[in-house]
Amino acid sequence: MKPKNAQIAILGSICLALLIAQSAMAENQKIAAPSAIESGNATSGEESSPALASGDVKNGEHLFSTICAHCHQASANESNTGAPGLKDVLTRHDEAWINRWIESPETLIETDHKAMKLVKSSRFGLTMPTLPAMQEEQNRRDIIEYLRTL
Ligand code: HEC
Repeated sequence: MKPKNAQIAILGSICLALLIAQSAMAENQKIAAPSAIESGNATSGEESSPALASGDVKNGEHLFSTICAHCHQASANESNTGAPGLKDVLTRHDEAWINRWIESPETLIETDHKAMKLVKSSRFGLTMPTLPAMQEEQNRRDIIEYLRTL
């Protein structure tokens, strides 16, 4: 494939990935709802707020396979599109950083040197977009909990 064609193919697959990510959202919310209720009950005797409930690995795995896996591998290997493999990502960044990155890479690169460097080193110029499903704090916790298991 000529470099230009390769770029178009990559762009095409990103658009597709985003479309799929959007349509997966409705389903994710259905799954997230019962766990929100559960955590509400579970915290009635504790002082932590439901928002601080720990992550649900199963929902995290579901979110990963429906959204992140379009670009990332769950292994240590870089994907064809140049996105880093996410195994051991918690050894490269701390949890708070990952939480902010997956909430909005676009916002983080404006102020964070590490994020800027990461985007600059990205092959093919692919940049991680801000994802609608990741605006929910519980979804980010669930994903991070899942990343821990890789
Ligand atoms: C459209 C492709 C795409 C999607 C979808 C995507 N990412 Fe990314 N991600 C990237 C790219 C590319 C990078 C490398 C940095 C850059 O250039 O933005 C990255 C970087 C990362 C990093 C930092 C990795 C490192 O080694 O420093 C983490 C963590 C991450 N993504 C998590 C996620 C999670 C979790 C999801 C799903 C909620 C997700 N990404 C969805 C493309 C994507």
